[in-house]
Amino acid sequence: MKKIVIAGAFAGLGLLVACQPAAQRAEAPKAEKKKLSAEEKFKIALFKNQDKWQKACSNPTQLVPEGIDIDTFKKEMLATVKYPEGGVMGDWKKGEKLFGDPRKQGKSLRGNCYACHCGDPTVIACGNIGPSLRGYAKRGKDPKETYIRIYNSWAQNPCSVMPRLGYHGVLKPQEIADIVAFLHDPSSPINK
Ligand code: HEC
Repeated sequence: MKKIVIAGAFAGLGLLVACQPAAQRAEAPKAEKKKLSAEEKFKIALFKNQDKWQKACSNPTQLVPEGIDIDTFKKEMLATVKYPEGGVMGDWKKGEKLFGDPRKQGKSLRGNCYACHCGDPTVIACGNIGPSLRGYAKRGKDPKETYIRIYNSWAQNPCSVMPRLGYHGVLKPQEIADIVAFLHDPSSPINK
C-alpha cells in the first residue's frame, strides 16, 4: 500500500514538472545529484548489470527473420523438450556445480551460465548478455517454464543467443532439473 502511495506521489510530481512552462523549468534549481560511494557504484554495476540498451540488444524477438511464423517455430521447438522422470525440480547442490562456478577454474563449467548471467552474488565474474538471475526464486516463475528455457530456449524465445543446452545434448534432463532447483530453491545461494 505504502509503495502505491509513494509511486502516486512521484507520478504527480512528474506531471507537475511536465506542465511547467519551459522557461520556468530552466530556472528551477537543479536537484542536487547524490554522490555515490565506490561501494554503491560497485553494487549498481553488479545488481543492475543489464542496462536498457543491453536488454534491447539481447532481445531475441528482433532476431527472428522476416516471414517466419513464430508460433510454429515455438511449437516445433517445444515438441523437442524431454523431461526427467522425477520432475523438473532436482537437487540444487548438483545444479550449482552444473551452473558453473568460474572459481572452480573450468572444472564445473558445463552449463557455463556465468558467461552470460550473474547468479550467486558472491560470484562477481559474470556476464550481462542475459539478465541477472540473482534472487530468481522471488520472481514467481513456474519451474517448468524455467526448465523449458534451459532445455531449449527457442521454445520460448526463437533465435535467442542462449544456447539450447538440452536440445543439443550438452545437459541431460536430470541435470537441467538440478539447475532449475538451483534457481528456484529458496535455500540456494542464488536466492541469498
Ligand atoms: C550465450 C549467452 C547465454 C548463456 C551461456 C546462457 N544464457 Fe540464459 N539467457 C541469455 C539471454 C540473452 C537471455 C534473455 C533472452 C531470452 O530470454 O532468451 C537469457 C534468458 C535466461 C532465462 C530467463 C530469464 C528471465 O528473466 O526470464 C533463464 C532462466 C536463463 N537464461 C537461464 C540460463 C541458465 C541456467 C544457463 C546455463 C545453463 C544460461 N541461461 C546460459 C543468454 C545466455
